[in-house]
Amino acid sequence: MARLLITDVAPRDGLQNQPMEMATADKAWLIESLARCGLPRIEATAFVSPQAVPRMADAAEVMAAVAPLAASHLCVLTPNLRGLERAAQAGAREVCVVLSATETMNRKNIRMGLDEAEAACLSVMAQARALGLRSRAYVAVAFACPYEGPTPAAVTRRLAERMAEGGADEVVIADTIGAADPGQVQALMRPLVDAFGPARIGLHLHDTRGLGLANAWAGMQAGVERFDASAGGVGGCPFAPGAAGNLATEDLVWLAQTSGFDTGVDLKALMGLVEDFSLRLGRPLGGRSYPWLRQHLGLSA
Ligand code: COA
Ligand code: ZN
Repeated sequence: MARLLITDVAPRDGLQNQPMEMATADKAWLIESLARCGLPRIEATAFVSPQAVPRMADAAEVMAAVAPLAASHLCVLTPNLRGLERAAQAGAREVCVVLSATETMNRKNIRMGLDEAEAACLSVMAQARALGLRSRAYVAVAFACPYEGPTPAAVTRRLAERMAEGGADEVVIADTIGAADPGQVQALMRPLVDAFGPARIGLHLHDTRGLGLANAWAGMQAGVERFDASAGGVGGCPFAPGAAGNLATEDLVWLAQTSGFDTGVDLKALMGLVEDFSLRLGRPLGGRSYPWLRQHLGLSA
């Protein structure tokens, strides 16, 4: 059976913008529970400026709490060399860099212009490699930018190629504000899968306009085998107005199951996790399939 590799980004992309604080122990619980549900990779935290993203200020403590998972399951966001240094000290084995496709989004997100951001990504990845760490390079606002409008596919493709040439073990195309449609996803992803091979390209989707699953399906049709999603659909970006929740992991796992792909995820265990996550975060969570799946799997409505 064909396999999809899902990276659950709830602990980082999901929590970075929540109005409510989650205790470090609850973040550790979330990461460990995701691993127990069968998620093969989890974006655990971000080594960023605590002034810029207060929710990620406990990155080192989170990593210490889940240290046994670092080598097998975890990746962390490190937008600059300072972040990489902190992440390496905390035991990270895989780091993520973010290159937004537009000048304005880079400035809002990491206070660098496009060229400077590209150079920063390349130097973080080179240094990560020298330290023996794997790297994933996100190309953010790959379909549209909240500040500059639609992103030409040629621009995204060129930046993805630069990141691949610069040594990214995986390039992840990110629809940061959930603005893509399935036709665009297919048109952009198919040549990238052909160029890099399915083990080196991923797709990160948000469900802002209700097209998250349709876009995932378009990606699957284009040969994408690596997807980001977040348990319960929690998510958003503090620097990208309009970025609503990530594509929910349970929706993606359900789509995969109905389409003949194995994900290794125990959907019933994941439903329990989403319920508990929701209680700990203090707000209702759950993807589009959540209420039906709970009933279908014999859990309470
Ligand atoms: N971790 C912790 N602190 C950091 C840091 C990091 N990776 N990088 C910089 N800092 C600190 C510096 O030490 C400095 O602290 P000080 O004022 O106490 O001396 C301060 O932040 C400013 O440093 P500077 O190098 O001027 O960074 P900046 O202000 O230009 O910010 C980023 C650059 C990338 C650190 C910042 O914009 C950031 O963290 N952005 C968050 C990106 C993000 O998580 N986006 C989410 C969606 S992808
Ligand atoms: Zn995102």
